[in-house]
Amino acid sequence: MPSGPHHPTEAARLVVLVSGSGTNLQALLDAAAAPSFGAAIVAVGADRDGIEGLARAERAGIPVFVERVGDHATRDEWDEALAGKIAAYKPDLVVSAGFMKILGRRVLGSFPVVNTHPALLPSFPGAHAVRDALAYGVRVTGCTVHLVDAGVDTGPVIAQEAVAVRDGDDEDTLHERIKTVERRLLVEIVGRMAREGWTVSGRRVRLGRA
Ligand code: GRF
Repeated sequence: MPSGPHHPTEAARLVVLVSGSGTNLQALLDAAAAPSFGAAIVAVGADRDGIEGLARAERAGIPVFVERVGDHATRDEWDEALAGKIAAYKPDLVVSAGFMKILGRRVLGSFPVVNTHPALLPSFPGAHAVRDALAYGVRVTGCTVHLVDAGVDTGPVIAQEAVAVRDGDDEDTLHERIKTVERRLLVEIVGRMAREGWTVSGRRVRLGRA
């Protein structure tokens, strides 16, 4: 797994991957408007067309690209095509913000990728984390920002924050409360990775200079 820009001088280049509403992307767009954030979103990619996340990027005047799994004979070919689209923008860091596909080894071997997940990993990995936490009956869940490895939400944890489950919560109310925390945490961590760099040793990620 490539490590990050240890001693960035100019703004770090971010490519953000989305699959849906893109409110985490919007939080990053809003933060990146301030030069002090230390990162610029240079492109937004998606696995599908017609989503609000792409519209948000277009409104911000940021280049977008779409790479559909279904357009390729195999996942590996999709992975390779996606890696090529991302590479064109020369990112220092790729941010998966509600991107709903498992990234392959070509992408993961080419760029550091950070993901936000709406549960306290290793609890409730996968595409239905909020629903699974509710069904299990946990009293506390939350969100996790982690580096992406080849597994499903198994990469080294960078930051987590707890969110209480309330009586009467359904998937939407709980997910929205988690997303409020998620957006703040993702902006904080991505900004620090961009400005301070990071190092990985085993499953431990340290922010700051090597
Ligand atoms: C986020 O909760 C993310 O963790 C999950 O899907 C949601 C995406 O929300 N994978 P948005 O598209 O950023 O609004």
